[in-house]
Amino acid sequence: MLQLPDFPWNALAPARERASAHPDGLVDLSVGSPVDPTPAVIRNAIERATDAHGYPTTQGASKLRQAIIDWYARVRHVPHLDVTTTIPTIGSKEFVGLLPTFLGLGRGDVVVHPRVAYPTYDIGARVVGATPFPSDDPAEWPANTKLVWINSPANPTGRVDSIETLRAAVDRARELGAVIVNDECYALLTWEGDDAVSILDPRVSGDTHDGVLAAYSLSKQSNLAGYRAAFVAGDRTLIAGILETRKHLGLITPLPVQAAMIAALGDADHVAAQRNAYAKRRATLRPALETAGFTVDHSEAGLYLWVTRAEKSFDTVDWFADRGILVAPGVIYGDDGALHVRIALTATDERIDAAARRLRS
Ligand SMILES: Cc1ncc(COP(=O)(O)O)c(C=O)c1O
Repeated sequence: MLQLPDFPWNALAPARERASAHPDGLVDLSVGSPVDPTPAVIRNAIERATDAHGYPTTQGASKLRQAIIDWYARVRHVPHLDVTTTIPTIGSKEFVGLLPTFLGLGRGDVVVHPRVAYPTYDIGARVVGATPFPSDDPAEWPANTKLVWINSPANPTGRVDSIETLRAAVDRARELGAVIVNDECYALLTWEGDDAVSILDPRVSGDTHDGVLAAYSLSKQSNLAGYRAAFVAGDRTLIAGILETRKHLGLITPLPVQAAMIAALGDADHVAAQRNAYAKRRATLRPALETAGFTVDHSEAGLYLWVTRAEKSFDTVDWFADRGILVAPGVIYGDDGALHVRIALTATDERIDAAARRLRS
């Protein structure tokens, strides 16, 4: 059996029990799971696609790949992709966890990921026996680095990397001969400061996508977490190699989900409406947290507020649990998160209002 660290969310069970005892009920701001309905434009599309008697192709229908590259050109300022430079994935978590496997990495290889990071970058490296290397400084990435994960906008911190920062990371990865991937699933959920630029944007990666990939997910922007709808795009040779292994393993996006993805990618209105809903929740929660004595760090983008009161993250989790609010301890994202908690904006307006009231009283 593979020996992996404990699943991080298991550690929250006692706080969940405590928070659930609140007389006005639990406000769960721990996991970033969307709570608003999947938009009708997408549900109608999947309803029209329920006859799916044959196997889909692993690379996805050409209509879907065209919809992805049109979306990159229109929304992410990434021209010149073609249908051989993208494939759908079954949500992006499986891709994040399996990319070191697809790349054939193993013992002696280093996988760089942010110091405070979504845990699956580390797990994917461990699965193949490679060495995870938490670092935000390209100058420290070792010579045996084979894969670099960037996550801008970041989970859990909400930090957005500038064009210069992304370009420096790409330059260093290319110097090392490493693959570099930006996990960009919060790209359209920016609140302050600059837009979140894609790693495939020519201002970052230049005239080619050599060694560069972007992963994107429709879970957050389109309330599609239950459909498992995501994709990866970039370096043609890498995409071809990844596709071959995915064919062998049967990692295929279901056809009805592909139809839903095409509808989601073609409709900007639901994305704007969902963004507004989160902006409103953020505007309610943030000042209430500050009134309660917390400092909000970064959080310029994404679905979380990254807050601290300069105490151990599990102590802060307990403080929230006493008020019936469940939040995520920052330490599960790395040692540098030990004094923070992550607070998700993914709750209904009613629950966000309840949390804000409890924080103010
Ligand atoms: C940084 C990051 N990457 C990937 C994912 C996985 O998203 P999904 O598997 O729903 O596409 C998440 C989900 O929370 C995330 O925060």
